[in-house]
Amino acid sequence: MEVIMIAAMAQNRVIGNKNDIPWRIKEDFQHFQQHTIGHPIIMGRNTFKSLPGHLKDREYIILTRFPISGYTCFESIKEALDYCHIKNYNKAFLIGGAKVYEEGLKHSDTILLTEIEKPFKGDTYFPEIPKTDWKLTEIVREYSEENDFNYSFNTYIKK
Ligand SMILES: NC(=O)c1ccc[n+]([C@@H]2O[C@H](COP(=O)([O-])OP(=O)(O)OC[C@H]3O[C@@H](n4cnc5c(N)ncnc54)[C@H](OP(=O)(O)O)[C@@H]3O)[C@@H](O)[C@H]2O)c1
Repeated sequence: MEVIMIAAMAQNRVIGNKNDIPWRIKEDFQHFQQHTIGHPIIMGRNTFKSLPGHLKDREYIILTRFPISGYTCFESIKEALDYCHIKNYNKAFLIGGAKVYEEGLKHSDTILLTEIEKPFKGDTYFPEIPKTDWKLTEIVREYSEENDFNYSFNTYIKK
């Protein structure tokens, strides 16, 4: 089973502010949808609370010490991934937030990281990706007309 982290970060590594994402990029949301539909999405409790609506056709898995009624919850990424493995998923996505990404680095095979070429004010950050362990294999550069900034879709593979 491939374990993939998917995130979008600003130039200063900000990923969130006051439990929200400080930008809207339509194409990045489509990119997220294309990759994650049909696969389980593992997230921290804050990220779960921050989602504006239900993301359909994906099993939600929430990391928390305080189970949320009606949802599959675990206390660790390892338990969540073991569950995905038992359910025969071929991919599992770690979708944030900062705590999940930090710990997720050691569990992941691939990082799909949207990098915005503009700094944002925020309170949560994407971790540094250790160059010794990860290789940047693809960069697709884009321009967001609605935001008037450049960004890129980057793929990192664990060496
Ligand atoms: N830009 C992006 O791509 C992106 C993606 C996702 C989220 N975000 C942003 O990130 C922010 C939320 O991130 P956050 O770091 O504050 O919170 P988070 O990681 O979503 O949630 C933190 C909580 O989740 C549980 N948790 C997290 N990691 C865990 C682990 N490894 N093992 C066990 N439990 C774990 C704990 O819950 P309990 O305290 O209940 O035990 C912890 O208090 C928001 O601003 C959101 O909008 C941005």
